[in-house]
Amino acid sequence: MPFAGAEGDERIMNILLIGSGGREHAIANALVKSPRLRRLFIAPGNPGMAQLGDVVELDVADHRAVADFCRQNGVGLVVIGPEQPLIAGLVDDLAARDILAFGPTKAAARLEGSKGFTKDLCRAYNIPTAEYERFDNESAALDYVSQKGAPIVVKADGLAAGKGVVVARTLEEAERAVKAMFAGAFGRSGAEVVVEECLEGEEASYFALCDGEIAVPLSTAQDHKRVGDGDVGPNTGGMGAYSPASIVTPQIERQILDRIITPTLRAMRELGAPYKGVLYAGLMLTSEGPKLIEYNNRFGDPEAQAILPRLDDDLLDLMLAASAGSLANRTPKFSARRALTVVLAAKNYPATPITGTEIRGLREAEAFDGVIVTQAGTRLVEGKLQAAGGRVLNVTALADTVASAQARAYRAVDAIDWPGGFCRRDIGWREVAREHG
Ligand code: AMP
Ligand code: GLY
Repeated sequence: MPFAGAEGDERIMNILLIGSGGREHAIANALVKSPRLRRLFIAPGNPGMAQLGDVVELDVADHRAVADFCRQNGVGLVVIGPEQPLIAGLVDDLAARDILAFGPTKAAARLEGSKGFTKDLCRAYNIPTAEYERFDNESAALDYVSQKGAPIVVKADGLAAGKGVVVARTLEEAERAVKAMFAGAFGRSGAEVVVEECLEGEEASYFALCDGEIAVPLSTAQDHKRVGDGDVGPNTGGMGAYSPASIVTPQIERQILDRIITPTLRAMRELGAPYKGVLYAGLMLTSEGPKLIEYNNRFGDPEAQAILPRLDDDLLDLMLAASAGSLANRTPKFSARRALTVVLAAKNYPATPITGTEIRGLREAEAFDGVIVTQAGTRLVEGKLQAAGGRVLNVTALADTVASAQARAYRAVDAIDWPGGFCRRDIGWREVAREHG
């Protein structure tokens, strides 16, 4: 469904999309609808994304090589899906060579890269979040923990692939977490630890598109982080999502924008690090209103797989406006339809996923009305699709209610023939319960 745009328009350009997950596959699906796209290059991509553009061999950590590629191939915008290249300063290094990229600079990416930085910013700007202290030595952290008591939350400061957070129900558990983090359980990220109050409520994810000055809403979602049905078992990158999350009412959305997102953008400007790109706020909706749990500097995965199919707008155009600082008067349009995404993971995820198993039946799943399958940890071996990672496939369904999107998504999931994989069977349960009133 292309959007209106003039053929031969000089605003048409080549794009380099960086990433290989379900999130980037969903971004690619949205970008190829744009009349402003000429050619889509993808690095490193996956077999599903290879059907949408040209997969290129590029070492994304080698910023000079990425810039050289962009110069040689007339790339007008680099779209960066995951957080690591942003935190490593890819946007800055491209800008130094006059190449435009979508996403925050290294200084702005600290909102995700350092929990301590973000907590201090919240304190300085009166942004609602859990009460906290930062520690660089174990005994002070242990004193604080015993003074506050359980439940309490212990976090390693830097990126720890979602594993650096312990929500401790007992004092012993909290003490063990503090000791493990200072003993280097998370490598360098544990050199500093944040201990914070345990917030009570329901979690929701809020997405804003930012141009350094202003933020415009990019809808809401709810993720399912635990591996097992009923939200049990270890944390994962996310086992499923739905969008929008009706628990974020228009009134709560106003509070999120006024009390959290807008002051954050002001703070980043005042720090000389204006924030551009997607700002993803992980929130706890408490009895005192929404409170920030954490920021991410990118789309969520699998939240993007549920949000982007609902976008009735030109994603490329929006990303260009955000990167150019010209989002004023742009309100991204979304369909009123609900979307729900089920993640299919390789058995034994998140510990040590079993890879190399064969996957069949994707065509059958995609043939269902309103169903989109995106790939993540997959590879093609002699024409056969195999699991090559932890989270492997995402099945998204659109419908008028979350309950019917859920039914549709699981019908499509059941058409996939992959004995080596598993999924949760209860994605969207909170919203389905709300719909059933
Ligand atoms: P994070 O990596 O900061 O997103 O934390 C992972 C998960 O830990 C969050 O999605 C929450 O479920 C939980 N969590 C983190 N901080 C808190 C907190 N202060 N209170 C309650 N739960 C939290
Ligand atoms: N689904 C959680 C994240 O993308 O961080």
